[in-house]
Amino acid sequence: MTETVLLVGGGGREHAIARAVDDSSDAELYACASNRNPGIASLAEGFEELSETDADAIVDYAADVDATLAAIGPESALNAGVADALDAAGVYAFGPQEAEARIETDKAFQREFMAEHDVPGCPDFATFEDPEEAADYIREYDGDLAIKPRGLTGGKGVRVIGDQITEEEGIEYVLDSDYEEFVLEERLVGEEFTIQAFVADGQYRVSPAVQDHKRAYEGDEGPNTGGMGSYSDATFELPFMTEADYTESVEVIDAVVEAMPDYKGILYGQFMLTDEGPKVVEFNARFGDPEAMNTLPVLDTDFVSILQAARDGEELPELTFSNQATVCKYAVPDGYPTDPEAGAKVKIDEESVARAAARATVETSGGEPRDVDGDALLFYASVDAREDGIYTTTSRSFAVVGLADTITGAEAIAEEALEKAGEEGLRVRHDIGKADLLQQRIDHMNELRGE
Ligand code: AMP
Ligand code: GLY
Repeated sequence: MTETVLLVGGGGREHAIARAVDDSSDAELYACASNRNPGIASLAEGFEELSETDADAIVDYAADVDATLAAIGPESALNAGVADALDAAGVYAFGPQEAEARIETDKAFQREFMAEHDVPGCPDFATFEDPEEAADYIREYDGDLAIKPRGLTGGKGVRVIGDQITEEEGIEYVLDSDYEEFVLEERLVGEEFTIQAFVADGQYRVSPAVQDHKRAYEGDEGPNTGGMGSYSDATFELPFMTEADYTESVEVIDAVVEAMPDYKGILYGQFMLTDEGPKVVEFNARFGDPEAMNTLPVLDTDFVSILQAARDGEELPELTFSNQATVCKYAVPDGYPTDPEAGAKVKIDEESVARAAARATVETSGGEPRDVDGDALLFYASVDAREDGIYTTTSRSFAVVGLADTITGAEAIAEEALEKAGEEGLRVRHDIGKADLLQQRIDHMNELRGE
């Protein structure tokens, strides 16, 4: 049967979901978001501009288009009960209901849930409703702490003592910021990575690990962002981790799924690979952005067939992936994330991006250039398509993804694609996926493990 899939959200992650729906054998796509993402709009039969948190309007639009499935991109929608409302209206939403989404939207709940259900990998933590008590805890704690506002902050609210800030600045942060409630937890030291699992009916299917780059500037400097870019390898692991590290992380996902039998949608585990193995930095209740752009292009399994099985209570299909490495780089407005320039016109040469794949070359270890085979993809993100062109919003503008046999090859393709797309007036972290940065990650892990 033809499925009519309603997609909620208008960023790069949702453009990746839109492509996955479009690539599925028998599905029609409709989409709604607060910004008109031209990439999604060009794939969809219909596009409605509405707020991702307006559950009533989304349910009305789902009814108008006779949606049979929904895919929810952003956490703001989950937090607003959009999945609950769609489910209640008879449209199966691939995304958790508000109660289960708390695993992302309420960081105190997240840690207490882990402790209560003995989910492995939980750091030492304490929760606070009074900033003064949080400040006292920071003063008395022996060691560095990560300071997390309890609710959603778009990935920008966490401060880590000993990394971005001093103990004094941490105390000021809990006392002077607009947040009232905090989770304080042991600072984890290591290399971060993400595993995204498709979850439904107590079952789950995992995908290759991805490493995002949260810091705004090259060399991991500057403030945290929603994510500047990310890479994955041709295997399930990343170059700095072992198969055993990956397997241990999946045991964490297994424990969450077992403890939350009603969870459905994507469960995103953010891990820190420490000298004691993987620990949980956080869970998200949706695909990562940018990580969806690494994972969905290499997913060979028909995306909509996974949603159908989830809805119908059937066994989820075993997932197959194309065994290619991916590198994703975001172009963001000047000033992002602290003072982004919204409303600037961006010129993107979409047509030329695909040709980047044919033209990329990498230096071999002998210094000889070698042509790389692969693909380049462009994903529009938080831009707004108006009659006279495409404009920036306050968030990330577009991303390119290179796909090839190796991370280095994929990186070369991503750079070619960026050059073709045009990044004038925008900022990119060119270091993502480059051999130097990869080697630093490997050396860091070896050093921590005493190897
Ligand atoms: P979150 O908003 O929870 O994703 O946190 C943003 C970033 O803060 C993470 O990607 C980490 O880099 C960092 N972070 C969060 N918790 C910890 C922790 N316990 N130890 C060290 N870094 C952390
Ligand atoms: N890339 C981080 C996130 O989606 O939360």
